Amino acid sequence: MAGRICVLASGSGSLLQALIDSPMQPKIVAVGADRPHVQALTRAEAAGIPTFIVDPHEYSNRLDWDAALNDRIRECEPDLVVSAGFMRILGPATVQSFRGQLINTHPALLPAFPGAHAVRDALDYGVTVTGATVHFIDEGVDTGPIIAQQAVPVLVDDDVERLHERIKVIERQLLVSVVTELMKGQDL
Ligand code: GAR
Repeated sequence: MAGRICVLASGSGSLLQALIDSPMQPKIVAVGADRPHVQALTRAEAAGIPTFIVDPHEYSNRLDWDAALNDRIRECEPDLVVSAGFMRILGPATVQSFRGQLINTHPALLPAFPGAHAVRDALDYGVTVTGATVHFIDEGVDTGPIIAQQAVPVLVDDDVERLHERIKVIERQLLVSVVTELMKGQDL
């Protein structure tokens, strides 16, 4: 698969790993993080993928951070940018640069439970079904057009960690299938 993909991640990077290991053999040209020493970067390095860090703590305001992130992503010349567990809201420069080429995966059935604590919020609300959503990123918080969703039942003895792990099993498959679809035709 020839389309160039840039992945953004902040944490353990299991979604990134699912992309790396997927049969479509995506051309991940870079993995970016918002802080050093995260497992996602270790996974990228192990797979021989170049990494970069754009840490908001090194910028005096959010717009400067966003401009730097935008520049760094543009250097990768990606066809698709995947926010896969990137725990930052992208700013206007990045969203405008990559509109329609920028997707996010979220551990809930949007528009329910947007934000950074989707699994906890769903559990606290008492829903019996939650799930995963892959959507295009717009200027809002988890508000962009939905590409694909899959439901995950909430079990009676679920806590945040157990439920999130079951969601992530589904989320990895969903993300791989969406990226595969979006990248079709890029390898001409
Ligand atoms: C995933 O569940 C992803 O949807 C979530 O972080 C997890 C990352 O997992 N992202 C958000 O909640 C963004 N609002 P990973 O680090 O194992 O790939």
